[in-house]
Amino acid sequence: MGEMISMIAHQWRQPLNSLGISVQVLEQKYYNAQVDDDYMQGYKEKSMKLINHMSDTIDDFRSFFKPQKEKEMFSLIEVVDHAIDMLHPLLIQCKIEVIYENKTNVSLLGYKNEVGQAVINILNNAKDALLVKEGETKKIMISFETDEKEIYVTIGDNGGGISDDIIDKIFDPYFSTKENRNGTGLGLYMTKIIIEEHCKGRLLVENSTAGALFTIVLPLKK
Ligand SMILES: Nc1ncnc2c1ncn2[C@@H]1O[C@H](COP(=O)(O)OP(=O)(O)OP(=O)(O)O)[C@@H](O)[C@H]1O
Ligand SMILES: [Mg+2]
Repeated sequence: MGEMISMIAHQWRQPLNSLGISVQVLEQKYYNAQVDDDYMQGYKEKSMKLINHMSDTIDDFRSFFKPQKEKEMFSLIEVVDHAIDMLHPLLIQCKIEVIYENKTNVSLLGYKNEVGQAVINILNNAKDALLVKEGETKKIMISFETDEKEIYVTIGDNGGGISDDIIDKIFDPYFSTKENRNGTGLGLYMTKIIIEEHCKGRLLVENSTAGALFTIVLPLKK
């Protein structure tokens, strides 16, 4: 129960921040007389998406530890797009550009929302790493590659990477280098459980020349 609540709390933080930013931007635009019907409609739709996502998150983690939960067919691109959507106001505020190096649309059988939560965690860590970085354009690069058996989704950033002395520990529960920023160290731990235990895939990390590079490997359905 405690772990479930901790995970929900962890996963609520980003959409909650996104909502907070949207509300502030709305006020700014209102006082600059930039709020027309279209803007208001868009604001409502985006906010409702975030709120619905937060509501789904409760259900996702209620069933997180159930062994017999229902699998469903889902489009991986849609899941990644949705994850980016959930962080969009944060990414804009931090001036981070998300670039798809290519798009391969595959359908997978599995736990759609959990995979989405995993992608959000990796994107969010990239955002954290880029936030403390000065200068240079801040970028997150996403690419897809498939072979006969698996799909590889790589998510890389140019935030400087992870030092060798801690890279073996980042998937441990409660390991965080963000003590001064309320890091819980739960993000990658739950991401690893989702990808490796629930989805029977692999979650890999390495450093590129620019920053950290995470690869989610998921089995394709026969
Ligand atoms: N893209 C990245 N660039 C640099 N370091 C990273 C990156 N992703 C993860 N890390 C390192 O891995 C650690 C563990 O990440 P994890 O998501 O589990 O926890 P956290 O981000 O510290 O805390 P929380 O997820 O609660 O905010 C981070 O503290 C950071 O040191
Ligand atoms: Mg994190």
